[in-house]
Amino acid sequence: MTAAPANGHAYLDFNSPLSDSKSYDLIATLGPLEGSTVVDYGCGWAELLLRTISHAPGATGLGVDDDEYAIDRGTANIAARGLGGRVRLERADVTAWAAEPADVVVSIGASHAWGGTRGALEAMRARLKPGGRLLLGDGFWEGEPNARALDIFPRAEFSALDGLVDQALESGYRLLNLATATRDEWDSFESRWCAGRERWLSANPDHPEAAEVARVVDDHRDGWLKGYRASLGFAYLTLVRR
Ligand SMILES: C[S@@+](CC[C@H](N)C(=O)[O-])C[C@H]1O[C@@H](n2cnc3c(N)ncnc32)[C@H](O)[C@@H]1O
Repeated sequence: MTAAPANGHAYLDFNSPLSDSKSYDLIATLGPLEGSTVVDYGCGWAELLLRTISHAPGATGLGVDDDEYAIDRGTANIAARGLGGRVRLERADVTAWAAEPADVVVSIGASHAWGGTRGALEAMRARLKPGGRLLLGDGFWEGEPNARALDIFPRAEFSALDGLVDQALESGYRLLNLATATRDEWDSFESRWCAGRERWLSANPDHPEAAEVARVVDDHRDGWLKGYRASLGFAYLTLVRR
């Protein structure tokens, strides 16, 4: 009997609402990349980092994350894509990771590791060379959150979009590019998250853990559709360190 899915990430390319085409648009905002050092804090399985390094001759990359599944998946992709000489992943707590200031830093969906957006902006600034570029992916309130959304994400966790940009400017950056996740990117992200469990349930309807897996995915889908779908946005800020 197949074990219940340990996480719902198998059908995701990125662990954030991000399409292929936008990933390449964002990478283009990070240049010049040739020969640069790129560090991704909270890299997950490091898909964006791997695509960045693949597109930049001579660039080298490091990704840090504390999730074992993610690091194993990313490490296998590095080998499969022949990038072993130029990228490596480390399983560690990002807040404790000391690295030389880089030309480019990426941190998408991991601000909570530093206690929120402002803490992440400060930590990333210390990890960037002057003039270096930061790609920060973070949530923001796009509309008024309902009670269900606030159960999942406390109001204070996010600002409105202009407030998110203000925090970046106040933290010693200039804004080079702003992009936000589209409704399609969000729906694809949430659907793929659910699909990891739905496909397992469909193949294992009588498994002893089936009821619990169904409860988890039902709760997640309700939180998304009845909660934050109408109010939560996700922004990708490309910032230059002053
Ligand atoms: C929403 S996921 C985003 C992953 C990746 N940036 C992406 O966009 O695909 C957030 C990631 O941050 C990592 N993370 C959170 N806190 C961390 C910490 N203190 N140290 C290392 N990784 C952390 C999680 O393991 C997770 O992989």
